[in-house]
Amino acid sequence: MKKRVLAGIRATGRLHLGNYLGAVKGMLQLQDDPQYETLYMVADAHTITTPFDVNELRKNRREVIIDYLAAGLDPDKSIIFQQSQVSEHFELAYYFSSVTTIARMQHLPTFKDKVKQYPHHTTMALLNYPVLMAADILVYKAGLVPAGLDQEPHLEVSREVARKMNQQYGMDFPEPVRLTTKGDYIPSLTGEGKMSKSVQGSYINLTDSVETIRKKIRSIPTATTAGGEMNPGVKSLFTFAELFIPNNVEQYKKEFSNGTLQFVTVKDAVAGAIYKQLEPLQLKRQQIEKDQAYVDKVIKEGAEKARTIASQTLKEVKEKMGLS
Ligand code: TRP
Repeated sequence: MKKRVLAGIRATGRLHLGNYLGAVKGMLQLQDDPQYETLYMVADAHTITTPFDVNELRKNRREVIIDYLAAGLDPDKSIIFQQSQVSEHFELAYYFSSVTTIARMQHLPTFKDKVKQYPHHTTMALLNYPVLMAADILVYKAGLVPAGLDQEPHLEVSREVARKMNQQYGMDFPEPVRLTTKGDYIPSLTGEGKMSKSVQGSYINLTDSVETIRKKIRSIPTATTAGGEMNPGVKSLFTFAELFIPNNVEQYKKEFSNGTLQFVTVKDAVAGAIYKQLEPLQLKRQQIEKDQAYVDKVIKEGAEKARTIASQTLKEVKEKMGLS
């Protein structure tokens, strides 16, 4: 039997370069590997765990699907869907919450971060975030999850839930592991932390023009003179250089050490290389945008296929838990 893969990205906006390198590239790689059956969703219901705008959500949950298609996710090879269209996720999350303690959820670093960020919105949905994520994965019995490094604590929870369900109820859930990619951790353009939609000035959108990308990369706070210790901005710039212009890195490092490096040269080379990778996606996106009926069809058929698998798991769980 084929191994199942499940991945998801929250619908907080259009995809950015961090999503692309950290998740989508891994998703593409697995979609073309015949060993795997791939399911790729937009985690639209996870978006309501923090304050959100209804109209933005309505728009973004579709934009992410379009970005997926533009990036090369193929509905003939992968099941592409919106999480909220498959209600089995939520039902399973409720059953999973019965094997999950409040204390375990409260101690997760992701939960603590959000509490700090939104002290007046510490809802049950936020506390349940990792439980719903476990359900997203395990409702398909997926064993492999392409995701960024920051998702590791959530995957640990998924493994614990799987173990408990297997021990207590005799289920056969796999313990899902994260697929690591080269672009596991994409730094913020601010030089601090990771590239994130929720930090202004930290990200490059997949739809950014070459001028915008150049401007954003130039804004990375590097030193005025090269040499000595690398500050966080310089380190970020070199991370991008390693990802996008790997062949030039050694030379630039040498120049950095002997104090002759022109940062703007590196920045413009990186910006050009980023745009070169994004340009085909942007062209494809323009084509897809013209055919909204096709997008509707992908969304509808994806949900149907996903439900077929998910309902099987729910049936089994309900039987084992004495609920059918
Ligand atoms: N938590 C993930 C993120 O913030 C999104 C997500 C929701 C997800 N459900 C998932 C990722 C299931 C992988 C598998 O990016």
